[in-house]
Amino acid sequence: MTLLFAAPALIFTWRFAPWVPTPKAELDRLLRCMDLDASQSFCELGAGDGRLMVWVHRHTGARCTGLEVSPLMFLVGWVRVTLGRAGRVRFLDMYKADLSSYDVVYVWGTAYWVGTPEFREYLGRTLKPGARLVSYQQPLSDWTPDLVDRGGQRPIYVYNQPHDPPEVVHGRPVTTA
Ligand SMILES: C[S@@+](CC[C@H](N)C(=O)[O-])C[C@H]1O[C@@H](n2cnc3c(N)ncnc32)[C@H](O)[C@@H]1O
Repeated sequence: MTLLFAAPALIFTWRFAPWVPTPKAELDRLLRCMDLDASQSFCELGAGDGRLMVWVHRHTGARCTGLEVSPLMFLVGWVRVTLGRAGRVRFLDMYKADLSSYDVVYVWGTAYWVGTPEFREYLGRTLKPGARLVSYQQPLSDWTPDLVDRGGQRPIYVYNQPHDPPEVVHGRPVTTA
């Protein structure tokens, strides 16, 4: 019986990411990195219990959307975000979402998720030009961040879309100087 419940929980945690909330003490720094205002839209990949969406909406007025793949966290987040009138949470694997309508996208995930080429390619394909990806703790694979804030508990990485990697010819970066 234990195995019946433990096995799916273990597989879920391995495939996706365990739920851990972004610390409240990091909010000011995050808001500075997000640089959001009330005319903009915000998306949280893996919205968890919805607390960050409520904070972001209260402090910026931005339209907020959260995507959450864990049924339990979706329910908790949906209640919190709905009661806080902070936006909406969708029960969805973020890889199935179109992110092209958001100005700022936030994520806190493991290296097995945020650090993979799959995730980086998905962002390159679906973020709109001018959008920002803000990642807490985990850098993206192969992309150089436009900003790194190390002034708190964990680093915050900011990437602007489109991401312009240095042009590479025969495996060597091309320099213009
Ligand atoms: C480290 S928690 C962060 C929660 C919240 N973003 C915060 O910062 O407080 C990661 C969350 O992402 C969710 N998650 C993991 N993979 C996901 C995916 N592919 N699509 C949507 N949500 C996902 C997990 O269920 C978990 O709630």
